Amino acid sequence: MSLGLMAVSALAAPLSSTIVKRAASLEDVATTGYATLNGGTTGGKGGSTVNVATLAELTAAVKGDTASIVLITGPITGSGENVKIGSNKSVIGKDKSVVLTDFTLTVKDVKNVIIRNLAIAKVVGGDAIAVQVAQNVWIDHVDLSSDRDHDKDYYDGLLDITHAGDFVTVTNSRLHDHWKCSLVGHSDNNGEEDTGHLRVTYNKNYWYNINSRGPSFRFGTGHIYNNYYENVSDGINTRDDAQLLVQNNVWSGSKKPLYSTDEGYAVANGNDFGGAENTALAGTLTAAPYTVTDLLAASAVKAAVVADSGVTLSF
Ligand SMILES: *[C@@H]1O[C@H](CO)[C@@H](O)[C@H](O)[C@H]1NC(C)=O
Ligand SMILES: *[C@@H]1O[C@H](CO)[C@@H](O)[C@H](O)[C@H]1NC(C)=O
Repeated sequence: MSLGLMAVSALAAPLSSTIVKRAASLEDVATTGYATLNGGTTGGKGGSTVNVATLAELTAAVKGDTASIVLITGPITGSGENVKIGSNKSVIGKDKSVVLTDFTLTVKDVKNVIIRNLAIAKVVGGDAIAVQVAQNVWIDHVDLSSDRDHDKDYYDGLLDITHAGDFVTVTNSRLHDHWKCSLVGHSDNNGEEDTGHLRVTYNKNYWYNINSRGPSFRFGTGHIYNNYYENVSDGINTRDDAQLLVQNNVWSGSKKPLYSTDEGYAVANGNDFGGAENTALAGTLTAAPYTVTDLLAASAVKAAVVADSGVTLSF
């Protein structure tokens, strides 16, 4: 071996073992799933950054269509409000101290919104995040929860995407300790508005201690991959002509990991149903309409998702 080669290999070893993930940036954009289509989801990228610490400051900062990054710097408690987020916004929690309690982030009649790195807990009578008539929404590294000490309807959903919400990606998030978790399409009677829309991707999320709706999906088109489910009684419910592609997810302790109601369909491959059975009707969605480069082997899903989901970033 020449001296030159020795020098190169001596250098190469420590370099490759210290490669770490690029740090998250306030200007990050959606890079996986349906939110990358329809022009992409860039949120407030290019706009100015506004720091907020109170409900009044948050409510004011997320108004309007001007691109801006709204950085929440600490916990905020409300009492059932709907904070309506305008178009071209990134709403980001600074670090894991950012827990929003008892109010809803509403993404309605707008386009191009990112919600990232924050926890929302115990929204009495409402959803934690509600997406309606909105396009291009990326939800990343959020932690949504309540408890199951109350009856099923005391809280509403954690993440409900309804009224033709479209081009939505949900990644690296935790949805837990709740009865009715994530609803896509709210009613059997809303096919006229919803058919052809409700295109949603769920990738690398950790769902645990949930009764149902992991998610429940009507009319739309869903790609659900790399998710880990622990103690989720009724997992993915495909209903009312929904077409789902369900790949490389892992379940532990589920009664119904993947099932149909009212002619909903799914193509399932690479999953580990944890000993339970997929009873969904066979579907037609055999490939996602975008490039997928991050499909994990089922054997790697639990460790990867548990380690890197929820509010793990800091800005
Ligand atoms: C913000 O959003 C609106 C509506 O989606 C769009 O028409 C407009 O060009 C955007 N503005 C900026 C500054 O990005
Ligand atoms: C799932 O349930 C088991 C048995 O009750 C419990 O030991 C475990 O902690 C639960 N998992 C989570 C993530 O809470």
